This record gives sequence, structure tokens and C-alpha cells, in this order.
Amino acid sequence: TLFKVCLVHFMWEPFHLTGTEEGLQAVDRLVRTYKHSCSWFLGPFYSLVRLFHPDYVKPLLLASASITVKDELFYGFLRPWLGQSILLSNGEEWSRRRRLLTPAFHFDILRNYIKIFNHSSDVMHAKWRRLVANGESCLDMFSQISMLTLDSLLKCTFSYNSNCQENSSEYIAAILELSNLIIDRRGRILHHWDWWYWRTPEGRRFKRACDIVHGYLVERFMGAKYEEEKKKKVVDFIDLLLLSKDEEGQGLSDEDVKAEADTFMFAGHDTTASGISWVLYNLSQNQDYQDRCRAEVNDLLQDRQTEDIEWDDLNNLPFTTMCIKESLRLHSPVSAVTRRYTEDMNVPGGRVIPKGSICLLSIYGIHHNPEVWPDPDVYNPMRFDPENSKGRSSHAFIPFSSGPRNCIGQKFAMAEMRVVVALTLRRFRLTSGPEKVRRLPQVVLGAEGGLQLQLETLDPPQE
Ligand code: HEM
Repeated sequence: TLFKVCLVHFMWEPFHLTGTEEGLQAVDRLVRTYKHSCSWFLGPFYSLVRLFHPDYVKPLLLASASITVKDELFYGFLRPWLGQSILLSNGEEWSRRRRLLTPAFHFDILRNYIKIFNHSSDVMHAKWRRLVANGESCLDMFSQISMLTLDSLLKCTFSYNSNCQENSSEYIAAILELSNLIIDRRGRILHHWDWWYWRTPEGRRFKRACDIVHGYLVERFMGAKYEEEKKKKVVDFIDLLLLSKDEEGQGLSDEDVKAEADTFMFAGHDTTASGISWVLYNLSQNQDYQDRCRAEVNDLLQDRQTEDIEWDDLNNLPFTTMCIKESLRLHSPVSAVTRRYTEDMNVPGGRVIPKGSICLLSIYGIHHNPEVWPDPDVYNPMRFDPENSKGRSSHAFIPFSSGPRNCIGQKFAMAEMRVVVALTLRRFRLTSGPEKVRRLPQVVLGAEGGLQLQLETLDPPQE
């Protein structure tokens, strides 16, 4: 493994494919030069293929899960935290988990969470109003919104009212620390080696944070406190996972449920927070689109007693949804996914990717490919007008990946994004912060030093 790691670093460096603004610009240059894919070979044994065209990525993402393997090199660091969960498992093991988890993301379940998204937004906005009134009107969207997404995920997953938007918690601090430590580990070659890593101060911090997160879960759903709370609350993800049974009547073990709960927290909070933050950023740069979204939301809520967005309202925010999709294209929270295949894979032009090669399917590359998206760096929500989407490849826009291993939480995420963006625009005007924004591709796409935006509190519209 260490050899492979060194190899990938060695191949990465000359192309500056690092987690910085310059790294992303280097990908832009690769895409303009090679149009669909490029590869690095070292001797007869190792190769890495980077793909950034929908026609090339499509057969790979749609391939059967039985011949698809998630590469340990990219996903292995998550294993001590997430265990053998849906995100990290392969083959039969994965397919059983996916079948058991899918019902938890059905519309009928998700609609119950809309109230939670509204409430979490209300809490954040009340805090923003206080801060703005005290002269603190320039805020880092990532830190604000990741607390909101954690807050709502904790409620949807465990029915746990953490109050984390107002008070710090050991559990939340541990989750944030784990995400940071994973990035840190990726960047230090020697730390890729398990034996070494667990002896370093960072490895010990990782272990401690994992213990806190795992211990918390045991307390949550084994403890008497939880039994007591369970009597009062709506059905949450944990309830559904505990009840779920396959065709043979077999369910998930307690260990499995814990691994999946950890995975929802990991896969669901930073991604959605990055998605929402970038929408707000893009709208701060395009006041005309921001005004149009605000008018759409105000029209929708006109004559209502409350400001709550309902499940059935989500389809009545077409322009806001187009703005969200265009932001997911331009600033995809997840830049790439990696895979290996146990068979040779055919891609267009009679080309073959040898089995065992690491395939880096570049979501960023596809979304910025000028052959697919003219003027790819321009934020233009009209690209997602149904008229303008005709004839576009099904794989031109894949922020949630696609195929059997696509994002199981995408409807959840789209619903939360629409609620938070709609309510935020109704209540605040957003304009640029003081610094030029430099993108920072890490586990998700962030910005160096945070994403600062200027807020102005708006009065409720006069009906
Ligand atoms: C804007 C928000 C989100 C984005 C952009 C996103 C993106 C993705 C992507 C690209 C993948 C494929 C990963 C891979 O192949 O390695 C994925 C998988 C996954 N996502 Fe999401 N995600 C989001 C929100 C969520 C939420 C809210 C949840 C759960 C509550 C979630 C749970 C998962 C899980 C469990 C998988 C693994 C599915 C499998 O392997 O079968 N995601 N997501």
C-alpha cells in the first residue's frame, strides 16, 4: 500500500493536482488538453486513469456493483470511523446494505423531515439576526451552515436535539476533528502507513475522536435515556434501520446500524453544508438571480400564516432549484469518486481500461468540460431550464454520482438545500465578503479561510 501511495503522490505532483485553487486550475488545463481522459502508467503493474467526459464516465458508473470496487487508497482512511458501512463495502455485502437502507430514504419518510429543516433554519436565522444587530454582519457560511446541517441530521438520524447551533458539544467537536484529520492524513505520506499513523499524535487524536463518536452512539441507542425519548418522537433513521429486514427476514446487527448512522453523519453534513454555502455565494455574486429567487419564495409564502416551507412547496420553487443545480455544477461539493473494476472496461473509441486500474471519475472535470458546458466558469442557472437541458447527456451533471452506487441521500439533500436557501433569501440579502474567494477542494469543496459573506437583514415583505 505504501508503495501505491508513493506512486500516486509521485504521479500527482508533476501535474500540481493538489487540494488547492491551483490544483483545480490544473484540472481545467488537463480537461482542455485531453478532452475526455488521460492516464498515468508506471511499469506494467500500476495505472491511474482520470476521466472527465460524460460518455467515458457513464459506462463506469453504470457498471454492475458486482465488478466495482471502491479503492482502499482513497476510502481506507475512513474505515476506523465508519466501519464496514454502505459507503465503504463492496459486492454482496454492499448490495444487502443498500437494499436494507433504501426504504429509509423514501419520499414518505423524507417528508416528515421538512419541519426539522425549517426549524434548523429558523434557529440559524435567529442567531444571524442577533449577530447582525450587534454589528457582526460578515459571517463564514461554512461554519454557520455546517452547524445547521449537523443539527438537522442529528434530529433526523437519532431524534437528538443537540442544540449544537447554540452550544458546543463533545460529539460534534469529534466529528469535525475526524474530517480535518482525514485531510491531514492524506497530505502526509508516512501517515498513510497504519503502523506509523497510530503512533503519531494525529493518529492518537483520531483514535480518541473515534472513541468519542462510537461511545456516543452506544449511549444514544442502548441507553435508558434513549428508550424514554423514543416514546415521544417521530420515526427517525435509526428506527427505520433497526426495523429493516431483507427477503430472508434478516436485519442489520447493532454494529451495522451504528456504522450506518456514523456514515450518514459523515456523508450528509459537510456535503450539504458545502452545497448550500456555494449556492449562497453564487447568488451573492449575481444579485439579479438572488432577487428572482427571493421573489419566487415570497410569492409562494404570500397569504400564509407561517413562514414554513412544506414538502409540497418544493416543486413550486423552479427558479431557486435551477440556481441550486447550477451551483452544484459549478461548485460540486464532491470533486471526484474513485473506483477499480475486476474486469477490463470498455470506453468510447474502442479504448479499454485494464482491470485493476484506479479510475478517478472527475465530477469537477465533467462539470467544467467546455465540450459539455460552454463557458463552464460562468454561473448561469438558465442552463437548467428544461428547454435548455434537452439533448444533454444524462452524465453531464452528476453531483450525486450515478448508477447503483449513487448518493442514497440525494433527495434528502435537495429538500434540505431548497428549504434553507429559500428561507435564507426571504430573510437576508447576501453580498460579497471582503476577501477574494479561493476554492479549497478537501473531503468536500470549501474555501480557504472560510466563505465570508456580508448579510443584511430584510423585513418581512408587506403583503
Ligand atoms: C449536497 C449533498 C450531497 C452530495 C453532493 C453527495 C454526494 C455523494 C456522492 C458523489 C456519492 C458517491 C460517493 C462514491 O462513489 O464514493 C455519495 C454517496 C453516498 N451519500 Fe451522498 N451526497 C450528499 C448528501 C448526502 C446525505 C444528506 C446523505 C445521508 C443522509 C448521504 C449519504 C450517502 C451515502 C450513504 C452514500 C454511499 C452510497 C452507496 O455507496 O451505496 N449523502 N454522495
